[in-house]
Amino acid sequence: MSPDIEARIIALTEQLHHLNYQYYQLDQSEVTDQEFDALLAELARLEAEHPGLARPNSPTKRVGGTITKQFPTAEHRYPMLSLGNTYSEADLREFDERVRKGLEGAEMQYVCELKFDGVAMSLAYEHDQLAQGVTRGDGTRGDVVTNNVRTIRNLPLHLRPAGPTRPPGFEVRGEIFMPLPVFAELNEEREANGEALLANPRNAASGALKLQDSAQVAARRLRFYAYSFLMPGRSQFDTHSSALEALSAWGLPVSDTWRRCATIEQVLDFVHEWDKKRFELPVATDGIVIKVDDFRQQELLGYTSKSPRWAIAYKYPAEAGRTRLQAVQYQVGRTGAVTPVAMLEPVPLAGTVVKRASLHNANQIAALDLHIGDMVFVEKGGEIIPKITGVDLEARPEGSQPIVYPTECPACGTPLIRPEGEAHFRCPNDRGCPPQLKAKLEHFVSRKAMDIDGLGAETVGRFFDLGLVTDAASLYELPAKAEELAQLERLGEKSVQRLVAGLEASKQVPFDRVLFGLGIRYVGETVAEKLAAHYRTVEALAAATAPELAAVPEVGGVIAESAAAWFQEPANLDLVARLRAAGVQLALTGEAPQPQSDRLAGQTFVLSGVFEQHSRDELQHLIQQHGGKVTGSISKKLSFLVAGDKMGPAKREKATELKVPIIGETDLLAMLPKPGETEAAAADEAAATPPDADSGTRAQGSLF
Ligand code: IVH
Repeated sequence: MSPDIEARIIALTEQLHHLNYQYYQLDQSEVTDQEFDALLAELARLEAEHPGLARPNSPTKRVGGTITKQFPTAEHRYPMLSLGNTYSEADLREFDERVRKGLEGAEMQYVCELKFDGVAMSLAYEHDQLAQGVTRGDGTRGDVVTNNVRTIRNLPLHLRPAGPTRPPGFEVRGEIFMPLPVFAELNEEREANGEALLANPRNAASGALKLQDSAQVAARRLRFYAYSFLMPGRSQFDTHSSALEALSAWGLPVSDTWRRCATIEQVLDFVHEWDKKRFELPVATDGIVIKVDDFRQQELLGYTSKSPRWAIAYKYPAEAGRTRLQAVQYQVGRTGAVTPVAMLEPVPLAGTVVKRASLHNANQIAALDLHIGDMVFVEKGGEIIPKITGVDLEARPEGSQPIVYPTECPACGTPLIRPEGEAHFRCPNDRGCPPQLKAKLEHFVSRKAMDIDGLGAETVGRFFDLGLVTDAASLYELPAKAEELAQLERLGEKSVQRLVAGLEASKQVPFDRVLFGLGIRYVGETVAEKLAAHYRTVEALAAATAPELAAVPEVGGVIAESAAAWFQEPANLDLVARLRAAGVQLALTGEAPQPQSDRLAGQTFVLSGVFEQHSRDELQHLIQQHGGKVTGSISKKLSFLVAGDKMGPAKREKATELKVPIIGETDLLAMLPKPGETEAAAADEAAATPPDADSGTRAQGSLF
């Protein structure tokens, strides 16, 4: 092993840790994002080539890639308790009296902190390295989710050589959360893809931490705030506040919203101050935590069986309001889903003026027995989108009629359908219903799809209303109408020129984004990328059956069915043909990855369950690199079923019935050429597959 390589790995590791600290804690950057990504890619490549030199806390671990089949559990060295809750100022004053009595009137201070609404996490640091992350679990024992925690970008994998000296082993506790803008963005994407929405940021964070594939966790962009320091024996700090300061100095993220308070009046001031201001924070908060600052005094006060006597949580009441329901509008989305929206008399709530509230679906309207003109109660909790929680029946106007859910599409009059198992009514007229067509166009030109300069959602909507465009392919006929366009109000020649150039440039947008832009239900950005990389051309993709599609990593059964059905529709094939004629990219350019051997040529595999040495993605890639095929369904023609852990019994039964041999991961790996046999090729492959370079890109802003 060349010592130069080892030195380079160490230097890159240190530089990247330093840059991460600067970026996430100090909000500064010495390098551009591209330079950062290049350094990360270089480290990933070196680690892939020299796996022996890769460290568990390498900055490349931020992008994920490890699979944990089942999280082991670990006992907490110090139990993870919860806090007593209060909802009133009177309760807080009582708490203060109890504390002062317990301390026999000694001088004391509080620390007030925001109560972050996420998932509690216990982090063990050993010799400055992040060693373990454990969830709260039942307070005594939690799940070890270290690999998932390593993807949290503002959390230091190793500590800075600064601040007070620290013990060799200690624990940091804090909250893992999904920043609100990330939550909003992920839900927008989900909505656009017709997927179920995440209920609130807390569920989103806890769901993300339980994912088996840490690369998927990385994509959820979770963040961490530290709020406690624990070490064996007596703490090296006298006060909680000095521990918080030390944590910051060591590079741990501590929200700078905390404050020392000498009296309960100051505590109440803090509570009032953050009542509204907390909505400006990028993290959901549901209250204030008040802690006795001095550790000895904490010890003196002690604990009840469930919670410390030296701390308490003040919970803000869920912001509720009462206002009049003026109307219900029915919105038709891109996939035809009809969503009822309550139009309200404007009412101030949780820092904003609320004019609309989600009514979710027909069931909810019926359950609330809503009438137009009713006075309704509106609540804005962790859900962000306000919801109607009830009706003030006493204030119901005389003669008002219950809301009758439409049976026909409010936009095009087509009878609505309600697919089995779905909560939403849907307009099935996907080729004639104007809001659906318009939303499809808006999606096609959107930033993550074709990103057409000079043609935003508003303009394309206007063109649609004027009958200038009807579908994605018709956009490319716009240059022929340039003169007509230039006559339109607020458009002019310059804008038209820009639009025409934008359309031309969009012909270079790679196939995966075109595919995403087609708006096939459930085919989001990632799935489109995977499908494009796998099939490379639209023809190959269109020819694939649902079970074949389902064998592509990240593509589940529902997605596969939806994509296969889409390519069965003659009208969709016609759209694709017209896009091709317009010059849009319908195949990936550049070299396809070269096969390394034909050892598995003619053999078909099904991969099922969770594997130990490689992820399913990796195994699939390996099989294909050696000439084999991977499919999703078990048939007589199948060569092998590769069984991992937790494979469903149905697959095993079917394979046994059809006499398909069942093998394990090791058997599969043994079928491949030994490393020595194709050494050059193996090294090439390692170099060509850094961990997902894309998700290594740092997003904007210090938190995200
Ligand atoms: S201190 C002994 N500080 O609230 C308990 N907890 O019931 C020490 N939380 O699930 C907890 N923000 O995860 C503390 N600034 C903060 C907090 C906080 C949120 C959560 C914590 C726990 C719950 C307490």
